[in-house]
Amino acid sequence: MHSRGAMLLPLVGAFLVSFATAKDLPVCVIGAGIAGLKTGVDLEAAKIPYVIVEGNNRIGGRVHPVKYEDGYLQYGATYINGDNNPIYSIAKANNLVDFEATKEADDYQSVFTQDGVIEGCDVHEFAAFTDSLSEKYKQFSIGGRAAEPFTEAFDKNYKQFLKKKRRASRKSRFDKLALMYSTDMETEWAALMSKYVLANYEKWDDGSKDKIEYTLNKMGFKKILDVISSTIPQNRYKFNSTVTGIDYSSGNAVQLSTSSGKIDCSSAIVTVSLGFLKKHAKTLFKPLLSKTKTTAINALGFGDMQKVFLVYDKPWLTDSAYRTIGPSTSTIFGRGLGFDITAWSKKTIQFWFSGPAVPAVGKLTDEQLMKEITAHLKSTLRNFTVPTPKRVIRHMWYQDPLVLGSYSYLTPASVALGDANAMLAEPISGTDGKPLVQFAGEATHSTVYQTTIGAFLTGEREVKRLISARNNKS
Ligand SMILES: Cc1cc2nc3c(=O)[nH]c(=O)nc-3n(C[C@H](O)[C@H](O)[C@H](O)COP(=O)(O)OP(=O)(O)OC[C@H]3O[C@@H](n4cnc5c(N)ncnc54)[C@H](O)[C@@H]3O)c2cc1C
Ligand SMILES: *[C@@H]1O[C@H](CO)[C@@H](O)[C@H](O)[C@H]1NC(C)=O
Ligand SMILES: *[C@@H]1O[C@H](CO)[C@@H](O)[C@H](O)[C@H]1NC(C)=O
Repeated sequence: MHSRGAMLLPLVGAFLVSFATAKDLPVCVIGAGIAGLKTGVDLEAAKIPYVIVEGNNRIGGRVHPVKYEDGYLQYGATYINGDNNPIYSIAKANNLVDFEATKEADDYQSVFTQDGVIEGCDVHEFAAFTDSLSEKYKQFSIGGRAAEPFTEAFDKNYKQFLKKKRRASRKSRFDKLALMYSTDMETEWAALMSKYVLANYEKWDDGSKDKIEYTLNKMGFKKILDVISSTIPQNRYKFNSTVTGIDYSSGNAVQLSTSSGKIDCSSAIVTVSLGFLKKHAKTLFKPLLSKTKTTAINALGFGDMQKVFLVYDKPWLTDSAYRTIGPSTSTIFGRGLGFDITAWSKKTIQFWFSGPAVPAVGKLTDEQLMKEITAHLKSTLRNFTVPTPKRVIRHMWYQDPLVLGSYSYLTPASVALGDANAMLAEPISGTDGKPLVQFAGEATHSTVYQTTIGAFLTGEREVKRLISARNNKS
């Protein structure tokens, strides 16, 4: 039954459209991340009026370059998954791909522990085991184990690995390698190893042959942002405007409430993160989203993955990447730590954290964090004289109110729904049957979710959908 409030709302809508017909109002794009920018670019090209409403004071969203020396460090997206996608094409055309750094990143790695370095045949044997796992888990998923969490499958396979001759005696070293591998996967998928499922290995697909992650040069995603947004005039942006309400109850127009006032729109394209939707969907939309949509929002995972840069006086490590593991009692270092040297600034080291380490790092001040990391490195990298870092550069994504995590992943609950990404992408139609509220953003892509590629493609998809509905005179 309608409540009193709900009955009044259509009148507000009718009042609104009596001044200008809904068709003359702009399409409101919510968010100026890659999905929102691509949406703007394609609306601009189609000469459809639009406004991009952004809570922040900048474009990019989870693409967040920060000026550093003569280049940019990346708080968010850094690499490009594969060469068969529009983001790679932009990078290639603008000479941004650093093929040398891409090659180096693939080297196998020793693990430094408090009891010495695990290296040589231990590492080689273990790598031979893990090398085949992605393909194996893809097959498991196809074969009916899509909803099985990574840890369940991995624990079984790891036990079999240990059963081979002359391995039991090396168990304590292999255990550390196994933990380090799980943590690497957890960082890569930005998902708790106990929660992300084998379906990710099946569904996620960047469409390339060899699944290489390309490293970019010092301009990297800063240049990609510039290129993508180049055709959007400045006056299309409304910055510092956090959307707190999306009212589509009139059925033929949308009114946004924002921190800088109300905006009337012909329709809206929502590109906010899944993390934002998880927290705010219940109060954001009027009327409430359908049960299907809400179920998809709740079921999909939105993970935590965090990088932290430490700046030193001068370069002091010799390889391109390292792995260390601290005492199991340490929340931050007990499950392993990966870090790599910035190819174009070797005194700048990028540390990766996942799972419970993320909030633990978030609680520390920069001073405390530098002290903790330095103590950990001293106790593990005993071949080196570990210097004291000068400063920390980081953006804690799980604490960013407009993101609230890092990126999306499939969970047991989302697998149970079928294609939860597609459910999230499903538009809400107006009384004329045309899209009134549309959804874009990485989590609405069924194969390249998690990435800038997915974000870009969903922006493109939603403008196509809008144009084809407008052209279809029914
Ligand atoms: C640490 C980290 C590393 C990553 N590494 C990579 C990588 O190497 N390669 C890769 O391809 N991808 C990577 N990603 C993922 C990639 O950054 C994202 O998938 C992609 O940028 C998402 O784009 P989007 O447009 O969907 O969402 P977002 O970038 O989140 O854009 C949404 C925009 O909406 C705004 N917004 C949110 N709520 C509101 C509101 N209520 N009102 C107004 N505006 C609002 C936000 O400020 C933001 O600008 C990484 C992400 C993180 C966090
Ligand atoms: C947004 O707010 C910041 C301060 O928070 C201010 O410096 C900036 O000029 C504002 N930008 C716009 C476009 O209003
Ligand atoms: C550490 O130093 C020892 C002795 O100098 C050397 O034999 C060993 O290879 C080094 N290990 C690594 C991983 O650098």
